[in-house]
Amino acid sequence: MSNPVLEALALHKAFRGLVAVDEVSFSVREGTVHALIGPNGAGKTTLFNLVSGLLPVSAGSLRFLGQDITGLAAHARARRGIGRTFQNIRIFASMTVLENVMTGMSRRLRQPWPLVLLRGGAAGREEATAKQRAHHLLDLVGISEQADRPAADLAYGDQRRLEIARALAGEPQLLLLDEPAAGMNPTETAGLMALLQKLRTDGLTILLVEHDMGFVMELSDQITVLNFGRVICEGQPEAVQHDPAVVEAYLGPKVAQRLLAAKAVKNPQACP
Ligand SMILES: Nc1ncnc2c1ncn2[C@@H]1O[C@H](COP(=O)(O)OP(=O)(O)OP(=O)(O)O)[C@@H](O)[C@H]1O
Ligand SMILES: [Mg+2]
Repeated sequence: MSNPVLEALALHKAFRGLVAVDEVSFSVREGTVHALIGPNGAGKTTLFNLVSGLLPVSAGSLRFLGQDITGLAAHARARRGIGRTFQNIRIFASMTVLENVMTGMSRRLRQPWPLVLLRGGAAGREEATAKQRAHHLLDLVGISEQADRPAADLAYGDQRRLEIARALAGEPQLLLLDEPAAGMNPTETAGLMALLQKLRTDGLTILLVEHDMGFVMELSDQITVLNFGRVICEGQPEAVQHDPAVVEAYLGPKVAQRLLAAKAVKNPQACP
């Protein structure tokens, strides 16, 4: 089994009275797609915010590549190799698509990216290389022909792909994707699946939050299921998707019992 890239140990996050993430532990192994699923409000995005450093933990710890990162700021985690996209897309609407990708390169550029865009000389050469890389990334996610358009003009699915390109510009070792297939049509979703499979083959580790269960089950190596902030199940797709606790979390106890009685839910021991 490959090494853990990310280890979450008893992570806890409370917003005043509300416990959004409750003693959550899991490990993400190198070169895998690890999905985090659960009904609306289960705590998935909050967990992403804890991992990327956007929110401080209330308790618990995080290790990335064997080192404790619990106290590090978000930019420091990004520099170490944690990239992410957002459930509510965050792009710079008035910049071009290409410029948006270049904003993701700060971690690697010697000059801050706005200077790279403005200066000549060494910065000019750096800019040329950066532009070339940005074009390559846009090509990879399939929107290179839109490079010079304002990002605001992109269709929703393409904005999601732009976010992935920008996250990849930081050369992450772990990529967090919060609902990347949301708003995509079946053709776009298939393209996204192929892209993520390629990234995994190239060695990237991916932590994925996604509501499209067909997508999750086909792509993931491992799945952690959250409900009301707690881990209720973890395993490989085949085991998790038939687990009664998981079915109940999504469909409610009545439907789960009917499915169980009709033997439509197999493998009841999957997640004790
Ligand atoms: N900044 C915040 N302040 C207060 N409560 C919050 C905050 N962020 C999230 N919550 C609450 O924490 C819980 C978990 O929310 P979260 O957004 O993590 O769920 P989620 O699993 O991502 O849901 P969805 O699938 O709908 O995106 C919810 O009850 C939510 O209302
Ligand atoms: Mg969410």
